[in-house]
Amino acid sequence: MANAASISSVFAPISHDMEAVDRAIHKHLASEVALINTIGAYIVSGGGKRLRPALLLLVAKALGFGGPQQHIMAAVIELIHTATLLHDDVVDESSMRRGRETSNALFGNSASVLVGDFLYSRAFQMMVSVGSLRILEILADATNVIAEGEVLQLLNMHDPEVDEQRYMQVIRFKTAKLFEAAARIGAVLAGAGEAIEESSAAAGRAIGTAFQLIDDLLDYSGNSAELGKNIGDDLREGKPTLPLIVAMQRSPAPDRELIEDAIRKGDTSALDAVMAVVHRCGAMDAVRDAARGEIEMAERAINRLPAGPAKQSLLDLCAYSLERTM
Ligand code: IPE
Ligand code: IPE
Ligand code: MG
Ligand code: MG
Repeated sequence: MANAASISSVFAPISHDMEAVDRAIHKHLASEVALINTIGAYIVSGGGKRLRPALLLLVAKALGFGGPQQHIMAAVIELIHTATLLHDDVVDESSMRRGRETSNALFGNSASVLVGDFLYSRAFQMMVSVGSLRILEILADATNVIAEGEVLQLLNMHDPEVDEQRYMQVIRFKTAKLFEAAARIGAVLAGAGEAIEESSAAAGRAIGTAFQLIDDLLDYSGNSAELGKNIGDDLREGKPTLPLIVAMQRSPAPDRELIEDAIRKGDTSALDAVMAVVHRCGAMDAVRDAARGEIEMAERAINRLPAGPAKQSLLDLCAYSLERTM
């Protein structure tokens, strides 16, 4: 496995490309409707790690592609991600994102949902301008699966019976799918053959899965200021994520019932007690081990790509995904 890597080593070979992506994002955010510009600028200026566009660019670069379509497509991926965040924060009733108030907290739920729709449809307009039916198909499928994932998750809310398998399906759909699409599009742009396209997609899928596993772990162990979002949000919503699922499997009846009850009620008054159980029974290590398993799969897939700085950055992205605290 790769050693600890900072996020800056991930971006090093594509720093100029990421600037072009940033310009494309800002250019395409524009609308005649002032509130769209306001909310669009608000959420985009909050920053964000831009991991998904970086993944697309790194795969494309590892495969020798340098054309300008990659900047548009990377911007498309980030706009789709941004749209899902606007929608997700409404559904999750979250109040903090990227270190500041969420758009729903500031502008209201309706405005957030509608601007999310604008960003989705703008992303599709941009895709059409690239003129690849294959890429359009990949992203039509991905956005459809993401929506299914969010609805599946809604069905799992407040249900302590959700097991690891149902949880894994949710995160493969809601999060891993966009990482998979980003990596696959990088390969398609580069004109890769089927085997390399599938390896790229598998790497994206595994990185995305690990990324969400760690996100769910950080919700019980992270630092709000560093993460830029409130920790404990998942329990407040009664979300049965892997830390809780493992803790329920491993704990004796009183502890298990405490967690079941907290999931049913979405009870944050129990947060400290639930955290104590989760940490005591080793659930955090189990989640980290699951993420590590995904990352090892990603590394094996990445190792099928040609050697070079972009491939090394993909491996650094793997290490970063496991060790991140933000
Ligand atoms: C947040 O994604 C949503 C999840 C899938 C956990 P990121 O952590 O990539 O969000 P930003 O773009 O960096 O804010
Ligand atoms: C986000 O899942 C998934 C999507 C954006 C589709 P979460 O709800 O866990 O993400 P955060 O914690 O709000 O960023
Ligand atoms: Mg959320
Ligand atoms: Mg989360």
